[in-house]
Amino acid sequence: MIFESHAHYDDEVFDEDRDELLSSLRENGIEYVLNVGSSIENCRRTLALTERYPFVYGAMGVHPSETEELNEENFAWLKAQCAAPKVVAVGEIGLDYHWQEPEAAVQKKWFERQLVLAEEVGLPVIIHSRDAAKDTLDILRAHRAAERGGVIHCFSYAKEIAREYLEMGYYFGIGGVITFKNAKKLKEALQYIPMDRVLLETDSPYLAPEPNRGQRNSSLNLPYVVREIAAIKEIGCEEVEQITSDNAKRLFRLEQ
Ligand code: NI
Repeated sequence: MIFESHAHYDDEVFDEDRDELLSSLRENGIEYVLNVGSSIENCRRTLALTERYPFVYGAMGVHPSETEELNEENFAWLKAQCAAPKVVAVGEIGLDYHWQEPEAAVQKKWFERQLVLAEEVGLPVIIHSRDAAKDTLDILRAHRAAERGGVIHCFSYAKEIAREYLEMGYYFGIGGVITFKNAKKLKEALQYIPMDRVLLETDSPYLAPEPNRGQRNSSLNLPYVVREIAAIKEIGCEEVEQITSDNAKRLFRLEQ
């Protein structure tokens, strides 16, 4: 069975068939879904999903591109939600210099605030880092984030950066991008990353794998990702599912 470690089923593109889709996941081999917050409103919707579906867990956090909306009041709300029984991580948080919106100083401020929050509530972190490898690492180190544990979502950097995160004990979220023909750098990095540090993720509705690239993504596409990882690591598909599921349960402290 598969542990989907990063999806956004709160997104409005699922409004039409969300219940039908989510209800079909288990019979298609998806055991758990971690729905990841990206704005205050999406955190609210994530909480509702965790209450409705027994196999859906949640992460509370504000994506770097949405940090302009944060203030002391809604930040206090965010922190309070971390105590909800099915909230297992703080995320997604981080830096996105591909879209320098809002400016880097604002992104950094709220990345740091949310790292402190994760420390206060004792949860692992889900990191979004795009075109910001050095600043992300510097800030994580400054906040002793190795102690918290976490995952680099949609890991897209080269082997050298993978080494830094491995030393911090972090996990690597691998999704549809690994199936893309131009993902040479990522495939090399995955050859280097040990399997006990890999999590499966989609980032649904984004980043659908080949052969469905460009379409709305869902966890039902994860077998394509599993197959690609199995080929790169030269192991069986079932082994990929088992190890990545064990990894996710360990990081997010499920079934203890
Ligand atoms: Ni995401």
